[in-house]
Amino acid sequence: MKFSKRISTRKALKMQSGKNVVLAGWVEKIKFLGKLSFITLRDREGKIQLTFLKKKFPDFEKIKNLTVESVVLVEGEVKKSKLKSGANEVVVSKMDILNKAKTPLPISIHDKNIETEFSKRLDNRFLDLRNSRNLAIFKIRQEIFSALREFFRKEDFIEVHTPKISESGAEGGATLFAFDYFNKKAYLSQSQQLYKQIMMAAGFEKVFEIGPSFRAEKSHTIRHVAEFSHLDVEMSFIDSYEDVFSVGERMLVYVLRKVKRECKNELRELGVKIDVPKLPFPRIKHSEAVDLLKKSGVKVKKGEELDLEKEKILGNIVKSKYKTDAYFISELPRKEGKFYWMMDKKVGFGGDLEYKGQEMFTGSQREHRYDVLVKQIKEKGMNPKDFKDYLMPFKYGMPPHGGFGLGVDRLTMMICGLGNIREGILFPRDTERLTP
Ligand code: 4AD
Ligand code: MG
Repeated sequence: MKFSKRISTRKALKMQSGKNVVLAGWVEKIKFLGKLSFITLRDREGKIQLTFLKKKFPDFEKIKNLTVESVVLVEGEVKKSKLKSGANEVVVSKMDILNKAKTPLPISIHDKNIETEFSKRLDNRFLDLRNSRNLAIFKIRQEIFSALREFFRKEDFIEVHTPKISESGAEGGATLFAFDYFNKKAYLSQSQQLYKQIMMAAGFEKVFEIGPSFRAEKSHTIRHVAEFSHLDVEMSFIDSYEDVFSVGERMLVYVLRKVKRECKNELRELGVKIDVPKLPFPRIKHSEAVDLLKKSGVKVKKGEELDLEKEKILGNIVKSKYKTDAYFISELPRKEGKFYWMMDKKVGFGGDLEYKGQEMFTGSQREHRYDVLVKQIKEKGMNPKDFKDYLMPFKYGMPPHGGFGLGVDRLTMMICGLGNIREGILFPRDTERLTP
């Protein structure tokens, strides 16, 4: 038996009776009867029943020894099964046990009646990921990444890759991971922010990057992790942050359409339906959002940063008022704006894209005037000297520009309808977790 002859279970399910096939995969179920036995064999593409007849399979006792989740290689003949579904089965003539799984398994993977605690599932992630639901999540995740790349290439953006080791942070000191870098203090990148802006001075005009960002988020939430996949976008010669929002809303619609079209089986597996929101998305000023919340009886002050709970309630209010899952909260209070934002005395020229009551991205027009930028850095209690290499380009021809940063794991979470961002990350990192 050779792997080169191997076909997928999916293909075997569609074949004509009588064909000889080689299959390999994991043993999901074993039913050992007197002269007849059954195994459910699983590979990435699906499952098929293997049938063993004592008279056709000389090594019949081998099956008694087999354990679930072992890896086997088999050869046999395709037959219509007597199952109600009438699906194909394979009557096995040869079987190699390639790797016998120990028993008991650390976690139960396929039994829908047994709910394994999430942290225990993450401890045994390689097993947890064998569940078809998880495979569906990561196939959708792949489609989201590919749709994002496709969209920005079509829109004439250039894909870039900026350093993940840096001298200064961009998104606030509290979440910086510091470490020793050849006797100097360095930080893991919190966002591509400073570099993508430098790329505007470099004349690239429109850039995007999808890469990891690192934040020492000390609080435990369903939507924050210490390492996440960050899409960062920056574009020059914009009239206002509206140009940034316009790219952002078209991007979301593009991704949702593509996932809806390409991932029908996976969405069905997850029990998720995608409603693609209509363009343009409503723009709700932060002050209006506060009024909407107040009207619904929520205690909230003008200029207050909306926490997770309030953001969710706002999502429901907007859904019933505007019949949409996607909208912008614009003109965030000045104190919420970062030093690199363009803002007036009261508000920042930007805001958040919200999807189903969760922040997907924050974006803005940037401050491209050197003197104002320096003033804003000082205002935030930081030292312009720490931003020397970032500031320099602003003195030598920096065009007006803006952009946004989107959490791709968070988008995956919302599209897949997951209860926790960690479900859509292979090996999540947070305060408690550095392994596996
Ligand atoms: O809102 P943030 O902090 O904005 C920036 O990084 C700016 N540089 C963006 C800009 O261009 N103005 O982060 C952007 C997005 C958030 O909206 C969120 O989706 C995601 O990144 N994000 C996280 N995702 C998972 N875990 C975390 N700890 C995250 N922190 C931010
Ligand atoms: Mg934000």
